[in-house]
Amino acid sequence: MDKYISVKELEDAALASLPKAIREYYKSGAAEEYTLAENRRAFQRLRIRPKCLVGWTYCDLSTTVLGEKVTMPVGISPTAMQRMAHPDGETVNVKAAEAEGVIYILSIISTSSLEEVAQAAPNAIKWLQLYIYKDREMTRKFVSRAEQAGYKALVLTVDTPVFATRRSDVRNNFALPSHLRLANFNLPPKKDSVKGGGLATYMTNTFDKSLTWEGIRWLKSITKLPIVAKGILRGDDAVKAVEAGCAGILVSNHGARQLDGVPATIEVLPEIVDAVKNYNVEVYMDGGVTLGTDVYKALALGAKMVFVGRPALWGLTVGGKEGVQRMLNLLRDEFEYTLQIAGTPTVADIKKDMVLHESAYCR
Ligand code: FNR
Repeated sequence: MDKYISVKELEDAALASLPKAIREYYKSGAAEEYTLAENRRAFQRLRIRPKCLVGWTYCDLSTTVLGEKVTMPVGISPTAMQRMAHPDGETVNVKAAEAEGVIYILSIISTSSLEEVAQAAPNAIKWLQLYIYKDREMTRKFVSRAEQAGYKALVLTVDTPVFATRRSDVRNNFALPSHLRLANFNLPPKKDSVKGGGLATYMTNTFDKSLTWEGIRWLKSITKLPIVAKGILRGDDAVKAVEAGCAGILVSNHGARQLDGVPATIEVLPEIVDAVKNYNVEVYMDGGVTLGTDVYKALALGAKMVFVGRPALWGLTVGGKEGVQRMLNLLRDEFEYTLQIAGTPTVADIKKDMVLHESAYCR
């Protein structure tokens, strides 16, 4: 794996090897893909302001998230159906997270069951991403399965009352390959029902579109696990999520796969951090992170940690567990030298004044 010296190179290699329909399913964003491009561009518009001669003697990348120590402030976001990237899918992605001491969030729309994933990596810090379904009993069962299998938090995705259109999936009539199954659901959908827009229709038909913040209160009432609200893009929503009982906010635009035209996540991060500053809550972000300097910029703007979705899929495609580890270690190395050269040797040293928007330099 050493020949890949950037996440971008892993991405290029993965894209070159995946079949078209899967490649485009993983890669694409919603509609015109404006937000997809902005997720990257917005990072590029931020500049790091290094401090010289600070006299550091050690560097520490580790941090604590919801009470768990992680080796660096980078975790793996939930992405659906990972066995399309590698025959062992989620079960090796989680092993890479275990080996690297980072958090792994399992998508409920996975091709390995949540129990298989837990058995594959008993010592990984695992969170389960789910939705609240029309059938609350079905939701309750997922929660109790997650608790029994040792998951440490529930990540409730709140930005998906319906799935947006990704044109390539429609064009490709995207289908889950017939040898795979949505392993957490008892009734594997018949081949026809997961074709093209059919997969989205099948999944969204189970979602509760009438859901309000009461849903989070209900979820909280049935579990002791901390709840993270994923998909928040406004300060006032962040406050509602905390007041409903969330312990974490994951600022996300679903990898630009939901509403095209929403801001890049790094752009809205400061608004959200500010809105909840008087509450006891952790704020994370995902979307467009591919460099150690991106991790640094997000932390400077107040994120406790960041997550990556597609980069883990690229690592998985290229080299299974080793590929994901390579991706994580590229980010780790880049983040480490960023800390060192910026003169902020620990995560706690990264304050807001370490980063400025480019407009401050272009007057
Ligand atoms: C996702 N994402 C996602 N989110 C979620 O809550 N549940 C899910 O099942 C999925 N599935 C999914 C599939 C694929 C192929 C992608 C690319 C994304 C969104 C994901 O959790 C995360 O928010 C983004 O991937 C972050 O952006 P980057 O890191 O991919 O740029």
